Formats: sequence, structure tokens, C-alpha cells
Amino acid sequence: MLDLTQINQNNLPKHIAVIMDGNGRWAKERGKLRVFGHENGVKAVRKTVENCARLNIKYLTLYAFSTENWKRPQIEVQTLMRLLVSSLRKELKTLEKNNIRLNAIGNLDALPSKAAKELKEVIEKTATNKGMVLTLALSYGSRNELVSAVKNLAIKVKNNLISPTDIDDNLINEHLYTHDMPDVDLLIRTSGEHRISNFLLWQIAYAELYFIDVFWPDFSEKHLVEAIISYQKRERRFGKTSEQLS
Ligand code: FPP
Repeated sequence: MLDLTQINQNNLPKHIAVIMDGNGRWAKERGKLRVFGHENGVKAVRKTVENCARLNIKYLTLYAFSTENWKRPQIEVQTLMRLLVSSLRKELKTLEKNNIRLNAIGNLDALPSKAAKELKEVIEKTATNKGMVLTLALSYGSRNELVSAVKNLAIKVKNNLISPTDIDDNLINEHLYTHDMPDVDLLIRTSGEHRISNFLLWQIAYAELYFIDVFWPDFSEKHLVEAIISYQKRERRFGKTSEQLS
């Protein structure tokens, strides 16, 4: 067990988002197929969800499948969808036990019907849970999300429901998949890559970025705690000067 007293409960990131990267390389290092990496990635998802709930994080958003991931070999896409369905089935109890509400963002209409059905069921069954909100980004792309928001706003202008001068940060926010969530405070990416990969571009405007050189299946409670401690050591100025903050 880790010493959680190092974490300041008064300065927790409200919203943590994670780019879970490196499943394929983790498997390759062990001479196994990529699928093996994803299966072990699921175990890291489970641990991270439980640890975040225990650490009182209010929102956890996981990049599980991007719009670009559809271009992967069909067998890998099928495996990821199969893992999604089996995890949703298996983890409903854990979500209930930890009072977690499941949410999903992305072009969910593109999901295979079995995955879409399972997802809808778990979202509905956990809808009244009041603890952490766990959001899975599935068939998600930030540019798609922004394009869709702009289209919807344009339609409202055309139908005289709003005027162009009404469009501001808040109105754009209201048209994103994440309209009912706060901005990301801490964005973690595993595997040593330093990229955002079309994830929550609007929502990470002032997020603290944390890149860690371990593959996703190896991401543990220790790494999560280290990321939170690193976040707590930073001064978030939101464009102001240090003096203005104190
Ligand atoms: C990135 O590793 C990981 C993914 C594209 C998928 C993440 C999915 C899971 C962890 C499992 C399913 C998720 C849920 C929520 C049940 P990569 O394949 O890009 O690794 P590489 O960069 O080493 O090739």
C-alpha cells in the first residue's frame, strides 16, 4: 500500500483524462500478439478506475478508441470491441460497488450494435450513482466533436434560435460531448509518447500535462499517485502572474 498522506486532499484534480498508450509495444516486448497487450490493458483500466474512485477523483475520462483506430487491422478492432463488451458485463458490479456512473463520448453510432447495446445498458443502470463519473471516449475524435458543435451552432443561427454574437466559450462548451463535465485538470499519457492525438483539444486548454515512460498495462497505483503529486506541485496560473495568485 502506498502512503496516500502525500496527496493533498484540498488540491485534487477534479477531472483526470488518460491516453492509455503502449499496449501493442508491451505485448511485443514479451513476444506476444497485440491482443495480449489489450487484454492486459483492461486490467490496468480496472485498477485505475478503482484507484481514482478511492482517491476521490470526481471525473475520469479514458481514451479507449479513437476515430482513427477504425483504420487498424479488422482483427484488432474486433478484439477491442469484444474486450469492451466483456469488460462492461464484468465490471457493472464494480461500478455499482464504487458508486461510479458510466458515461461515453464520441460517435457512438459507429459502434457495433452489441457494444452500443451493452454500453447503453450499463450507462442506464449506473445513471443514478453519485460518485465518480467514468467517461469512455469511444470512436472519439476531438476535431469531429468540434465540427459537430460548429454545425449545430450554424443550424441554430440559420433557424434564428441564436445570433452569431451569442457564440462564446460557454455556448461552444454546451455543444460538445463533454457539456456536463468540467475542463480537464490533469492529462496523463503513458508509453513515453509526447502527443495529444486528437483527444479533448478544447477541454485541455489549461490542463497540466503528464507524460510517463511506462506502457499502459504497467500503469499502477504508484504511477497514478506520482502523477497527482506532480500536478499538486505545479502552479496553475490560467494566464495570470504568480504574484496575482498569492
Ligand atoms: C493504445 O495502445 C491503446 C488502445 C488503442 C486501446 C486502449 C484500450 C484498452 C486499454 C482496452 C479496452 C478498453 C476498455 C475501456 C475496456 P496501442 O495499441 O496504440 O499500443 P502501441 O502504441 O504500443 O501500438
